Amino acid sequence: MFYPDELVRDVIAANDIVDVVSRYVALKKSGRGYMGLCPFHHEKTPSFHVSADKQLYHCFGCGEGGSAVNFIMKAEKLDFVEALKLLADNARIVLPEPDQGVGGDEYYKTKQRIYQANTLAARFFYTCLTSDDAGRDALLYFMNRGITTRTITAFGLGFAPNSRDALITHMKEHGFEPDELAVCGLAIIKDNKYIDKFRNRVMFPIIDVRGNVIGFGGRVMDDSVPKYLNSPETPAFNKSRNLFALNFAKNAQADVLILVEGYMDVISVHQVGITNVVATLGTALTEDQAKLISRYAKNVALCYDTDEAGIKATLRAIDILAAAGVRVNVMTLPGVKDPDEFIRKYSAESFKQLAAAAAPSTQYRITLLKSRYDLSNIDEKIRFVGEAAKILAALPNVVEADAYAGQLSQSCDIKKEAIDAEIKKIHSRESRFRRPDKNETSPLKAIDEIQAGPVQAELLAARSSRLARAERLLLALMYQGRPVAKKTRAEIGNEWSDHIHAELADMCYRAWDAGAPPDTISVMAGFDAQDAAYVSGVLCDSFSYEDEAAAADDLILTIKEEILRQRIKTETDPVKLQALLSRQAGLKRGGTPI
Ligand code: UTP
Ligand code: MN
Repeated sequence: MFYPDELVRDVIAANDIVDVVSRYVALKKSGRGYMGLCPFHHEKTPSFHVSADKQLYHCFGCGEGGSAVNFIMKAEKLDFVEALKLLADNARIVLPEPDQGVGGDEYYKTKQRIYQANTLAARFFYTCLTSDDAGRDALLYFMNRGITTRTITAFGLGFAPNSRDALITHMKEHGFEPDELAVCGLAIIKDNKYIDKFRNRVMFPIIDVRGNVIGFGGRVMDDSVPKYLNSPETPAFNKSRNLFALNFAKNAQADVLILVEGYMDVISVHQVGITNVVATLGTALTEDQAKLISRYAKNVALCYDTDEAGIKATLRAIDILAAAGVRVNVMTLPGVKDPDEFIRKYSAESFKQLAAAAAPSTQYRITLLKSRYDLSNIDEKIRFVGEAAKILAALPNVVEADAYAGQLSQSCDIKKEAIDAEIKKIHSRESRFRRPDKNETSPLKAIDEIQAGPVQAELLAARSSRLARAERLLLALMYQGRPVAKKTRAEIGNEWSDHIHAELADMCYRAWDAGAPPDTISVMAGFDAQDAAYVSGVLCDSFSYEDEAAAADDLILTIKEEILRQRIKTETDPVKLQALLSRQAGLKRGGTPI
């Protein structure tokens, strides 16, 4: 993590989890904690639990859980640092800019200053558009394109007057000198003088997920070039890490994001009530943007322009998104050049239908390929099938490849065995020619992907075992009681079936050694979101036992029993096996397992 642990702790500690969650969920007091309806899945009876003493939440319905930061990350779809910032703001704690080391403070101030300048500039452009005489043409331009005043306000659209210094003059009144505007990308030097960068253009502010105005796109109102001018990269504006309208789209709570090419496409689609739509910022989709997308949605519907450039961009975007673990479907716009035109010509409803009918990326690629061959010509058909087989051979998912091979066989009237053989041939050729190369990640990646399923399943199975259950209950007891922790250390030590259990146990041992109960916030800070959800489940699942010491003894015995049982199952040395068996017999005489 970028921030010192102490600071993270302080920020979380300054936000009571009950207050934080109460802003999203109606909570009712229940026993020592609170209950409510889970905001992360649909339920009619509450299984969402908030523990005030542990400062944790956990939903026993969907398994979500963790600390206040985990809650904010999930509820606001923010990453850890962003969520921490939000909590810091709540508590009026000023965080240093992370990741900067020495001078970070300076950098942070610069960024804040750019946000301020951009916000003022956006307001100025908006005022010029909506109230000045000079803005009449610009307003008319938007009206002609079907943009309503409501949309203008929602997106904060504006107009940069046809003047060399309208903005510079305005910003001076607010304490921003031209050299500072140049740093913000709002002024440029021409003939040894600062002049406004954006002149006589309609303006599109670019706003990040936290609501900061980070930059602008400005469009001419005629056919002159360049059509769009964009803010340059500044300390506050990184084009490859932001997306236009993600500030709106993240609130759409959709499991799919529609990715379009242009600002105007986003705005048109958004205007008809479809708000899960974003665009890149005048550049091709980057890996960072794909990762950003993957945080908000596991599915993307690509809806680029229908020209050749749009198709090329679609193919590139498919690869980049797939590498980020996003499932990609491609929408096909019939007879129009882009989503903006489609919306103006048809309706929101038909756009939604297109989105629902979007083709899986593999199908899209094969259909596209097919359109480039004349299949009535046998030579071309063979070439087409050869190229299609290359696409299938590269798919990480073998089942998917097989399904498409079947389809291909039918549609081309070629035996499936022949297509399979072709795919096999490509594979063997590749493995023959491919030298192991450390920089080449794709084959390994494919293996990772294939293995992710079973590994995940194995983990789930392990966690539902009798051993894991007993360990969890014991950990919850250790968390609350020093005697249990002491006894567990002596009897179980560091032998746990799950590394998270081992970490939790270690934290309990150390805390009680130091004479205090474990500090949940420090404990949770050590886990990522997924593990945090699991840990919150362990810690919130506190049964009330009549006799905690006796319950702990039972659990310890169960754990020992299970560990022995597993060793006996795998031990091949007869002497060692004998020893294990007699230990097992000894255990059984000692107590009554649960
Ligand atoms: P388009 O040319 O498709 O523009 O470029 P558009 O958004 O659909 O706008 P209209 O409908 O013609 O008004 C798509 C995106 O590429 C970037 C912009 O981000 C634009 O939204 N672009 C395009 C530039 O950055 N500079 C340009 O000169 C052109
Ligand atoms: Mn366009």
